[in-house]
Amino acid sequence: MRRVLHFAAAASLVLVGCGAPGSGASVGIDNQPITTALPIPELVEGKTITLNAQAGLTDFGPAATSAATIGLNGSYLGPTLRLTRGQRVQVDVENDLDEMTTLHWHGMHVPAKMDGGPHSMIEPGQTWSPSWRVDQPAATLWYHSHPHGETAQQVYRGLAGMILVDDPEAPDVGLPDTYGVDDIPLIVQDKSFTEDGQLVVDSADGPSTGFLGNTIVTNGKVGTYLPVSTQAVRLRLLNASNARFYNFGFADDREFAVVASDGGLLGTPMMANRVQLAPAERAEVVVRMAPGETVMLTSSPPHLGTTRDSLYSGGTFDILELRAAGSLTASPELAQTLTSLPAPDVGAASTTRTFAVQGRAINGRPMDMNRIDMAVPVDQNEVWEITNVDPQPHNFHVHNVQFRVLSMDGRPPAPELSGYKDTIYVAPRTTVRILVRFTDYTDPDWPYMFHCHLLLHEDLGVMGQFVVVKPGEQAGSPPTHDHMAMG
Ligand code: C2O
Ligand code: CU
Repeated sequence: MRRVLHFAAAASLVLVGCGAPGSGASVGIDNQPITTALPIPELVEGKTITLNAQAGLTDFGPAATSAATIGLNGSYLGPTLRLTRGQRVQVDVENDLDEMTTLHWHGMHVPAKMDGGPHSMIEPGQTWSPSWRVDQPAATLWYHSHPHGETAQQVYRGLAGMILVDDPEAPDVGLPDTYGVDDIPLIVQDKSFTEDGQLVVDSADGPSTGFLGNTIVTNGKVGTYLPVSTQAVRLRLLNASNARFYNFGFADDREFAVVASDGGLLGTPMMANRVQLAPAERAEVVVRMAPGETVMLTSSPPHLGTTRDSLYSGGTFDILELRAAGSLTASPELAQTLTSLPAPDVGAASTTRTFAVQGRAINGRPMDMNRIDMAVPVDQNEVWEITNVDPQPHNFHVHNVQFRVLSMDGRPPAPELSGYKDTIYVAPRTTVRILVRFTDYTDPDWPYMFHCHLLLHEDLGVMGQFVVVKPGEQAGSPPTHDHMAMG
């Protein structure tokens, strides 16, 4: 049974629940002819930014020229927000949809009321205007809708975009930085389309992790190539898919430099020929090209540590073709040190909290908008131990913070996971330990979220709420809502 999204039915659409772990067939990706130059989302910056959530028709490519979608300032996805460390920003989020939404700044350090989680609902016709001071290292973040129970389908239909944080104080370390030329946002998603070119929204089409599509869409288009005019290109990879994991690399296995994780630069460039991203994770990579050559960015089967990784994999498939011009503008070499990244200070951690992720719950409790799960004191180092009790994949995302990974299944994290992270993969029956520290903002009532970022799981309740409080302060009570759209 396929549930097909029709324009008028969008508001009432509900994703069906997941099957037993391991049910459903692997959904492979069908490579598409490479026909379209990669679209580069418009860049918006400044102290006041307007994002207008709207419905429209989107041309994804030959098989779907007028799919019903939703987007921000356009019919699908949204512009790239470019923010500068130290600036204040206000974003006016206007909801011109006929359904409720929210907009969350994933990876951003913000007051809880500005965070755009499920309590910050924007009714149709309303505008929500959060503002905050940007204060975190340069990074590739993103924004997406976050209404409880509706996140998977709204993000899938298009409510997402990229955020670049720049740090004017950071030294020049030779990173390509001309947006759209050698500094390329790459929002990677998987979709399926009906015969009449509409989006298929059906979680039951994949295994229990949620929707897996059969067609790769990059920045909103199928079958894309990137014209390259410089010797080095920086790709800001964002896995904005509901459930698919990618193991990015190049068809000729060439090495590239991984330079940043979710929350900013790594200490040193890490040479690799693959980088794996779970849903919501980002990596920045720098790849060098020779004049006149063409090479395919691909995804090969990820290593998930399940007994049936192929269920989630889709094999090896195309993401984006890089086409170098006959002559290339010189690019600088990368510095050997990108940023100073102190080792995580575990000794100073005063509290350890444990999170058992299982089925549709964390520590046995499914998400409840009316329950605050914990109050975390500000300015305190804490170790969080996250265990995936299930045989299936989960990951773990914490709002408002960039954390450090201490260990994964008892071992130190891989170099590409040793920098700032806000989302981390937790393989079946393993424990990941992270070091978190919340700064600046306290509010005993308005919660932040922690959750699995496989969007079906999040919608089904693999999520909890915490408040950041002054030392000694207790959790208060979360906001109440008159007409909450619960999943
Ligand atoms: Cu990407 Cu709770 O968010
Ligand atoms: Cu999960």
